[in-house]
Amino acid sequence: MVGMQSETRAGSRSSAADRARAARRTVQWLPGAALLASIGCAAVARAPASPHVAGGSPEEAGRYLILVGGCNDCHTPGWDRSGGKLPTSEWLTGSDVGYRGPWGTSYAANLRISAQNLGEEAWVRMFREAAGRPPMPWLNYVTLHERDLVAMYRFIRSLGEKGVPAPRAVPPEEEPATPYILMVPQQPKSRP
Ligand code: HEC
Repeated sequence: MVGMQSETRAGSRSSAADRARAARRTVQWLPGAALLASIGCAAVARAPASPHVAGGSPEEAGRYLILVGGCNDCHTPGWDRSGGKLPTSEWLTGSDVGYRGPWGTSYAANLRISAQNLGEEAWVRMFREAAGRPPMPWLNYVTLHERDLVAMYRFIRSLGEKGVPAPRAVPPEEEPATPYILMVPQQPKSRP
């Protein structure tokens, strides 16, 4: 997976620069310069440490993040076959084809249901803890800016609930009852 932190660097740089300029102006114009300068520094230090996506609304940013984050590849049935053309109303309803590996068999969750059942904080915590099974790329998403995580959540929630829950994960020693994709390296057949 590619990195998830789509950025609006130009935007965040210029706003930090604006704040610094504003702080300098304040220092020139008012008495008590030392105190005001230290307040200015604190404001600059509080600038967001990591980049995040800015959209017209959190939902718009969230749609963009879901798209470039590749979430549809696993969580939206038929995404590949549609050439990425499925309407948003069809997105993220989960899959009943398993991913089987040393972790057992996992299923890409129905996020249209997850987003309705989880609160915003629980959603963010889940990504921070990155505690789920592969092949969900938890480790790639662990440093996503909180605003990006919330934006994705709000977008999915705005789509409303749709579909049925994905099957429960199956432990490694059990045979799954659904079709599955085997995710372990295969040896090439020996050549004659
Ligand atoms: C390579 C496939 C893949 C991709 C890409 C992927 N996921 Fe997943 N996702 C999964 C699988 C499989 C699970 C189930 C993991 C488990 O059983 O622990 C899952 C689980 C989740 C869960 C947990 C849901 C719940 O209710 O427990 C969330 C939330 C989630 N994915 C969100 C996302 C988002 C948002 C993106 C894109 C930024 C994304 N996923 C991209 C495969 C993927």
